[in-house]
Amino acid sequence: MNLTDRPRRLRTDGIRGLVSETSLAATDLIAPVFVDATTDERLPIESMPGHERVPVSDAVARVEEVLETGVEAVMLFGIPESKDERGSRAWAENGVVQEATRRVTRETDAYVITDVCLCEYTSHGHCGVVEDRAESDPTLTVKNDETLDLLAKTAVSHAEAGADMVAPSSMTDGMVGAIRDALDDAGHDAVPIMSYAAKYESAFYGPFRDAADGAPAFGDRRHYQMDPANAREAMREVELDVEQGADVLMVKPALAYLDIVRAVRESFDHPVAAYNVSGEYAMIHAASEKGWLDLEAAAHESLLAMKRAGADLILTYFAEDIADAL
Ligand code: PBG
Repeated sequence: MNLTDRPRRLRTDGIRGLVSETSLAATDLIAPVFVDATTDERLPIESMPGHERVPVSDAVARVEEVLETGVEAVMLFGIPESKDERGSRAWAENGVVQEATRRVTRETDAYVITDVCLCEYTSHGHCGVVEDRAESDPTLTVKNDETLDLLAKTAVSHAEAGADMVAPSSMTDGMVGAIRDALDDAGHDAVPIMSYAAKYESAFYGPFRDAADGAPAFGDRRHYQMDPANAREAMREVELDVEQGADVLMVKPALAYLDIVRAVRESFDHPVAAYNVSGEYAMIHAASEKGWLDLEAAAHESLLAMKRAGADLILTYFAEDIADAL
């Protein structure tokens, strides 16, 4: 044997850092924060150990906890005091996200991103206005164009409250363009849009739907979220969002969709975000509780894989723990 090439030479402790191709930093991470208008105390989220729904009065304290770890950005999700057919609390001036955003942007240095969707706010739990047909009808879906105006109003109300960036997640065709126009008309041309550009109809959102109380009351989301079987379609979705003015392109979920992260990275020069979703977090937690996985190592490895696939930023429930460990 004549082994001239020995990759193991570069794996000693002294050099491993020098030759590593990818790294994780606290500043790559965005921490999701749940603000709940129905409670005045913090409520643990059972399926997401370590996470809580916090009342508006605690939003600043919660975000300060995040900032202490070195993470500089948060994504705010709201649980409203009441829901209706159209999700009107989503764009209310005194809505839960608007109130929390006002306080957090005034009192902290966090970069505040808001999730723009209607599913937490509608009584039926769908991400838009539902067609007027029997709930048992399997083809029942969300009315695309009627939803656009509501999303636009919601995004503007977040910007008026001081949001640094808005993140539409409803998979409504045309949502980025409608939001961009409305923000510009309202004088918020400097507020960027991080689009959930390729968002799949995924089984990995289960714990989030408990946390945010946003599970659909009937049917599912496959009429608007993407089919996990498709990759080329993701490129069409992303391209449309780019044409409509998206500033940051998100792929969601992350772990099972690293091929999509990579493909988006290669075709576009926009920053790419990966959403390490609730089910990905819950899975690692559950296995580690059983003693089957090392929590921190598995979390770190997952996030590193997202960076390696091409993500610039990662939205993750591990943000604080990983930033603390870095
Ligand atoms: C709302 C929204 C969802 C998630 C983020 N924004 C839920 C959904 O589409 O059902 C899921 C996030 C997660 O699972 O961590 N549209």
